[in-house]
Amino acid sequence: MTFSRIAGTGSYLPPKILTNDDLSKIVDTSDEWIRERSGIRERHVVVAGETTSTLAVAAAQRALAAAGVNASEIELLIVGTTTPDLIFPSTACLVQNLLGANGCAAFDVNAACSGFIYALSIADQFIRSGTVKTALVIGAETLTRMTDWTDRATCVLFGDGAGAVVLKADAEAGILSTHLHADGAYRHLLHNPVGVSVGFKENEKNAGVRVMMAGSETFKVAVKTLDSVVTETLNANALDRSAIDWLIPHQANLRIIEATARRLSMPMEKVIVTVDRHGNTSSASVPMALDEGVRSGKIKRGELLLMEAFGGGFTWGSALIRF
Ligand code: ACO
Repeated sequence: MTFSRIAGTGSYLPPKILTNDDLSKIVDTSDEWIRERSGIRERHVVVAGETTSTLAVAAAQRALAAAGVNASEIELLIVGTTTPDLIFPSTACLVQNLLGANGCAAFDVNAACSGFIYALSIADQFIRSGTVKTALVIGAETLTRMTDWTDRATCVLFGDGAGAVVLKADAEAGILSTHLHADGAYRHLLHNPVGVSVGFKENEKNAGVRVMMAGSETFKVAVKTLDSVVTETLNANALDRSAIDWLIPHQANLRIIEATARRLSMPMEKVIVTVDRHGNTSSASVPMALDEGVRSGKIKRGELLLMEAFGGGFTWGSALIRF
């Protein structure tokens, strides 16, 4: 049997930081409200010249260095993103060229905040089937480029960043299982209502690319579906929840993360939390949290990791990994 192993991780945050106090000068909000409702204290934001692909390249270079892999060895490059640089070419093609990995298969996956888990699952299938031996999987976002800075209900939540992993084929697992789901019936609860085919104006007057979210409805579905995907993952691997060493959740809201940890009876010391400093970085959040866990020395080789994510679509998914 062939499995995918994570050979190296990397992440990159744009240097500019926006604190809750900074936001309270833009919209009617407060540090206290944002921290209480979401757990977020600050987030990193891109400035002119920075794009999803530049963040992705920086994260990828760190992951390649950690894995001891050259860009020329990459056979498959997938970017999970909902904020591509361009409509086309894909961000993956731009990243491939900037890295010098020209020639390999490269494409984007748009599954909103679940984009990295979706991309990881796809790369895992390519490796398991023997099609490729080395893959680069990235989650990268510049969500603040489609944030409505007049809407206090959403603009306080999002941040920018990128995370990456290098996967290599191995006789030992590795990625034990991945579980992907979506339910488009919920599309209106969390969406960006403009695009190429429907047009870039919401109505006659209003042009704009912006995130719209029914926060408390989204919150409720997120808790319920994450609960069920965690149970599905444990059952598929005939594992008790006590077997999990680390929970690496999508970082949308500390209260959602705590609810999933309670479901697993995991103390918060066993949960990687970055939402306080990163905000919600959509598909970048899980690989950035993984990289932070690895580089801080918390996550060690051989430990069992459970990753999960939930986002617009709705989409949700999980990955169980022997690191
Ligand atoms: N500052 C101050 N007050 C605010 C702010 C703000 N920034 N935003 C909203 N409020 C007010 C509201 O107007 C409302 O006032 P009202 O009671 O007078 O009407 C009150 O605060 C409560 O608002 P709620 O939306 O009910 O607050 P809630 O406790 O639900 O928290 C939050 C909001 C943080 C958005 C939460 O619902 C949440 O995290 N939802 C899920 C997010 C998520 O998981 N998204 C999925 C991934 S994201 C992706 O895919 C891109």
